Order: sequence, then C-alpha cells, then structure tokens
Amino acid sequence: MDIKGAIPPREPLTLQGAAGISEIYIETGLLGRAGKAMLDVFSPSRVHIVTDSTVAPLYLETLAQQFTLPVSSTVIPAGEEHKRLSTVEGIYHDLLAAGMTRKDLIIALGGGVVGDITGFAAATFLRGVSLCQIPTTLLAQVDSSVGGKTGVDLDEGKNLVGAFYQPRLVLIDPEVLKTLPDTTFADGMAEVVKYGYIANPAILEMVSQPDYKAHIGDVIYECVKIKRDVVAIDEHDTGLRMILNFGHTVGHAVEKLGNYTELTHGQAVAIGMVAAMRLSALRGDADLSAPLITLLQQLGLPTELTHDREAIFHALLSDKKKFGSTVNFILVREPGRAEITPIEAETLHEYILKL
Ligand code: NAD
Ligand code: GLY
Repeated sequence: MDIKGAIPPREPLTLQGAAGISEIYIETGLLGRAGKAMLDVFSPSRVHIVTDSTVAPLYLETLAQQFTLPVSSTVIPAGEEHKRLSTVEGIYHDLLAAGMTRKDLIIALGGGVVGDITGFAAATFLRGVSLCQIPTTLLAQVDSSVGGKTGVDLDEGKNLVGAFYQPRLVLIDPEVLKTLPDTTFADGMAEVVKYGYIANPAILEMVSQPDYKAHIGDVIYECVKIKRDVVAIDEHDTGLRMILNFGHTVGHAVEKLGNYTELTHGQAVAIGMVAAMRLSALRGDADLSAPLITLLQQLGLPTELTHDREAIFHALLSDKKKFGSTVNFILVREPGRAEITPIEAETLHEYILKL
C-alpha cells in the first residue's frame, strides 16, 4: 500500500457515551507519539498491549519503547478464527501475571479482530479497565475502533458475545496503512463506500479520484465523523445505528455461507451493498446499483452473489438483526440517505430468490 500525503493535527473528534467520553485523534505519524498522547489522558502504573502476530513485528516495539513505566504484552495469532473466548481468557491470565489493576491501561494495537477482543477483555477484566484503541487496518480506523462495540465469535456465529465499552482514546495513524496488503486495504474501502452511501456522497467523490490514497487521512476523518454522529445518537444500537449495517444483512449471510474463510468481511459487505441496491429496485425504487458496482470494482472489491439464493435467505434469517417475522433491511434510495426498512420474511424470501 502506497500511502502519500500527510494530514496535519486536528482537534480530536469527541464522542459522549453513556459511561464517558471517547476522544478520537486522526494524525499522520501519531503512532510515534502515542505514548505521550496516552499519558496526557491516563495515569496508569503499567500498560498492557494486545496485538497480533502480523502487527507485533511491525509496530509493537515502536509503541512499547515510548513508555518508561512497565509494559507487558499479549501477541495473539492473526485471524478471525482466533476471535474466541479462549483468546480472551489467555489475555486475562497475561493481565494478572503482569500485575494489572483497575487503574492501569490496556491498549489494542491491530485490526478489527484485535480491537474487538481487546475491547471485550478491557470491558470485563476486573469489571472494566481503561482502554485505548490504536487501529492498524483501514477497516478498524474507519469503523471498528470507534463506537464501543466489542466481542467475540461462537461456533453458532459472529459477534454473539460482547459488550458496549467505549475506548477513552482512539489514536488513528493513517501511516500504518502503508504495510497493509492491497486486499486488506480494499476491505476497509467497502466500509468507506458504505459511509458515502448512507450519509455523505462527497466521500464517494473523494474515493472515485485516481489519487484517493493520497488523501486517505481526510477520507478516514469524514467516515469517523459519521460514525461518531450516529453512535452519539444511538450508542446501544436500538435505532439509527442500524444504518451502519447497510450491505451487512446479505453480507453476513454470504460471509457465513463461506465459513468466514471464502470472503473477508469487507468483500461480503461489498456484495451485500449491491444486493441491497438491487432489492430496492425490486421494490420499485430507482436502480442505483450500476454506479455502486463500478466504484466497488475500481476499488478491487467483488460485487456478485455466487451462493444459492435459498441458502442466503436462511442464513440471513438466522442473523441476530431479525425482529420477529420481519427483517430490518437498510435501503439507500439516493446516495447519502439510508432508511431502516422492516421487510416481512415472506416478502424478503421472494426478493432474495430474484437477486
Ligand atoms: P483483522 O483484524 O483480521 O486484520 C486483517 C489482517 O491485517 C490481519 O492478518 C492483521 O494481522 C493484518 N494487519 C493489521 N494491521 C496491519 C498493518 N498495519 N500492516 C499489515 N498487516 C496488518 O481484520 P479487520 O478487517 O481489521 O477487522 C475485521 C473484524 O472487525 C471482524 O472480526 C469484524 O467482525 C470486526 N468489526 C467490528 C466492528 C465494531 O464496530 N466493533 C465493526 C466492523 C468490523
Ligand atoms: N459496525 C457497525 C456498528 O458499529 O454499529
């Protein structure tokens, strides 16, 4: 990934959650001054960093060496298959062995998997320890590190156990994206496109430019602003926050049908957004799928459903977003405006068979 350009320090974005404030800084080079940024906010006696086996050799030392107080770490194996309760238990043991108390600080350094696991460990260890998120994938920078959703997977499905737990601090450094493989960068772009369609079409303009990677810091900033605004209104996901699931209803279904190995989360979301647009057209709205497909293909993302439609419908119904006999589908009738649309399961079945 070739990341050019730099974004200057800006005022942090702040998110007022029910249990406290979350400050989100987005600055090029921030990882190199993360220690100071943390000690301006927290007064721990020790810190514990959780990261994964890919990120550790790249950035763990850079971060750890910035502290003069005791630093311990847990390096988990990279990959969604490790987003499990057993991994969290391992983190608890490391925290105890390091002598961490409720006054200390836990840092998540990694992508969405590390962020979700570490957030859950921080929410539950000693009933809650301060948390700083340092997201290192584009997906984690624009989405998972902000808003306080934490959790792990069970055999039955993804993210079935978790907690809402806001990080007091989120430190986003676009520079770390330079080591991301292109496909992992593209995964994050699926979520970026999502923000463009649900709230701000200017983002679509930005990422349609051939040199959009040179302005990725600004793109991240616009996306995080949307997430902050949505979560500030509906932190616990009972209403407006559902718009962040545009593309995720069918997306989660195909991700599950591929056993979470055939498609990445971002690829599944890309396919799911196209399916949602086609579903809108089947309901009689304007068909907005063509420009979406062009953009996603330009960004290196898949757009077509390949799984059996009947299987998609059944996987979709088992998703936790089903309410009784209706499914809350997120539809976009014009770029920038998302609507939560309850659709009867029977009607949805007919639409899915036609996709
Ligand atoms: P990931 O954490 O598995 O990271 C993808 C890969 O990139 C991993 O192999 C990782 O080691 C590697 N990596 C991370 N940073 C790197 C860097 N700077 N350079 C090189 N390699 C790097 O996956 P992800 O896409 O970041 O996150 C997906 C997870 O996020 C899923 O579990 C999903 O459920 C979760 N998620 C959570 C939320 C939320 O609100 N909590 C939102 C969206 C997604
Ligand atoms: N990524 C969806 C949410 O945070 O609600």
